[in-house]
Amino acid sequence: MAYRSIFTDSSPDERRDNFDDYLAYSRLRGGELLETDKDLSTRRERLQYFRAHPVRSHRPLENPAAFYRNHVVFRDDPSTIDPRILLWTCVYKFARHEWVGVSAAWDASPRLSEAPTIISRISRYHLAEEFCHVRYFEEMFRTFGLDRVVWMPLSPFRQRVYGLFPNLPGLLMNPIAFVTELLGVMLYRHVDALLDQLFADEPEARARIRELLYEIMVDEIAHVGQRRNFLGSAQIRIARRLVAPFFRLFFRDIPESEHLFDIDRMAKDGVAFDYSGLPNGLLERSWIPSYCRATNMAA
Ligand SMILES: [Fe+2]
Ligand SMILES: [Fe+2]
Repeated sequence: MAYRSIFTDSSPDERRDNFDDYLAYSRLRGGELLETDKDLSTRRERLQYFRAHPVRSHRPLENPAAFYRNHVVFRDDPSTIDPRILLWTCVYKFARHEWVGVSAAWDASPRLSEAPTIISRISRYHLAEEFCHVRYFEEMFRTFGLDRVVWMPLSPFRQRVYGLFPNLPGLLMNPIAFVTELLGVMLYRHVDALLDQLFADEPEARARIRELLYEIMVDEIAHVGQRRNFLGSAQIRIARRLVAPFFRLFFRDIPESEHLFDIDRMAKDGVAFDYSGLPNGLLERSWIPSYCRATNMAA
């Protein structure tokens, strides 16, 4: 099945219906939202499965100290470090940004039972999903013997910047939130491709990483559509123009990224995103806005 560009326009009515549909999807996929644990019952079950059936790489990473020295701030020259380590420092940095962002937003948003609108209920599920991803990332690190990973808060200045984000005017905040989700899916697609290259000699560990990654991707693909659903015509145009500069700006802070990924390619893929090129089986489990799903299209 072919889909439309993520930048396809939609009417306010269509978007309202899609928010309803999205909330129903989140509920069904997530199960019960466990407020105190920032968790969802279905994801918890899945995590328990992963933990009860652990997979560990046959060989430990050659120089795990290089991970711990560079995962928060890259101190060495990335060109001298094993790309397997670079991948994990880069994944850590991305996941840490997510963790910081959702931790601030969780405290500032109402509990599900007190959330007054569809959008605030969607947001609560969304945040809980992101916390589940953080636990899946920890499981990835453990698969390669990195079991001392802790989530470091950002500097006070950066924390303040994150804190300001929800107060930006919607015209700017919504496109940025959308582009951030799109960046996630594009990054994970590149990570997925790298797994084959970097871990050819660790088929079991690689398969486990991929299982964890795909669990996250199903949610993130849905988040792209959900955040897209906030955008009217003017905001779509802003979002489209933001993709390339935002991707570049984001990765500028992560010096190892250019040793792993083609950032320009990633930005081009972001602008062209139409749900094609994703691993098999993920779209069926994810959520796509109705206006990107229309069937009577020219090929
Ligand atoms: Fe995420
Ligand atoms: Fe997300």
